[in-house]
Amino acid sequence: MQMRDREIRPEVYWVGAIDWDRRLFDSLIPLPDGTSYNSYLIKGSEKTALIDTVDPTMRDVLIDRLSQLGIENIDYVVANHAEQDHSGAIPQVLGKYPEAKVVCTPRCKGMLIDLLMIPEEKFIMVNDKETISLGDRILEFIHAPWVHWPETMLTYLREDKILFPCDLFGSHLATTDLYVTDEGQVYEAAKRYYAEIMMPFRTNIQKNLEKIKDYAIDIIAPSHGPIYDRPEFILKAYHSWVFDEPRNIAVLPYISMHDSTRKMVEYLAEDLAQRGVGVKQFDLTVADIGKLAMALVDAATVVIGTPTVLGGPHPNVVYAVALVNALRPKVRFVSIIGSYGWGGKTVEQLSGMIPNLKVELLEPVLCKGFPKEADFRALDNLANTIAEKHKGFIAGFYPLGQ
Ligand code: FEO
Repeated sequence: MQMRDREIRPEVYWVGAIDWDRRLFDSLIPLPDGTSYNSYLIKGSEKTALIDTVDPTMRDVLIDRLSQLGIENIDYVVANHAEQDHSGAIPQVLGKYPEAKVVCTPRCKGMLIDLLMIPEEKFIMVNDKETISLGDRILEFIHAPWVHWPETMLTYLREDKILFPCDLFGSHLATTDLYVTDEGQVYEAAKRYYAEIMMPFRTNIQKNLEKIKDYAIDIIAPSHGPIYDRPEFILKAYHSWVFDEPRNIAVLPYISMHDSTRKMVEYLAEDLAQRGVGVKQFDLTVADIGKLAMALVDAATVVIGTPTVLGGPHPNVVYAVALVNALRPKVRFVSIIGSYGWGGKTVEQLSGMIPNLKVELLEPVLCKGFPKEADFRALDNLANTIAEKHKGFIAGFYPLGQ
């Protein structure tokens, strides 16, 4: 890869690493398309700055790229975020460029000392809206907590109108394309990324979008995935994900052991579809949890399907419901359906597991053994209630940001 091809603006370079084969993040999040750790070098007329670094597994790639560019001096290593996929190579950069200072928020400083044992004297802490001059260019630091941890900030290169938002607006997508070329593909990857990583912080993101709305932005250069040279594409997508009403969609994650719950889920899905409600059904024994998270970005209702096993919900359902609660989607309604053999506390246990969701619990439908006529009528009632509750919500998933 020729580094001159990676020049975004004169003397502003991408110096990141592409991780084609990574398939899991945080030992939790599936990465079907790998990812990248984007680092950026800015050579000002007087000072040189590096914006974020790379995952520690790829530290040598970053150091090699800096060598290829002939970089002999770095004055500032800007750490927008302390998580190791961006900060993990800071110790190696400081080893090669010992004059460099780490520029970050006060909270980030403490976290980098905790995580990477970077010496206290290496830091320059910056306040919200504070600037640093590189000579002919100015870096402005915009504190933006909770995108993705509490210490995060965004960096804005004023003269070139480039926003470096680190995790915010990113996508887990390994590609040699410097810029977005296939907006459909990137929309999917960015939505998955938002669903899995950013959605729990939706209200913080609303505030941060408000905070940057008056900045002139020509380019958004995130630290995962391709760069946006048409920033309104991702800004509009985020706007709909965090601000808009949910859509006329019900998500049905379920487990079935002996087909009773499956029969109920399939019946309800058909019933909802006939009433004009969009349905996304997930058999949790085979589902990609990332796809479930993506469906939750849009959904107004979640109906959890589970058999009663050992007196409560199936453990795989417990896992999925814990995840839904943690992701804090903007769903408005939840219900529980499924079968039992002789009793249990499935509804009490599941309904107690979603304190983060501001939802109305719709009448559950639990049947003894295989569902019978009365159970199907109860499912009809549930489908009718959901369709009524969804009146006014727009059909279909949020459209690609145009
Ligand atoms: Fe890409 Fe929160 O790290």
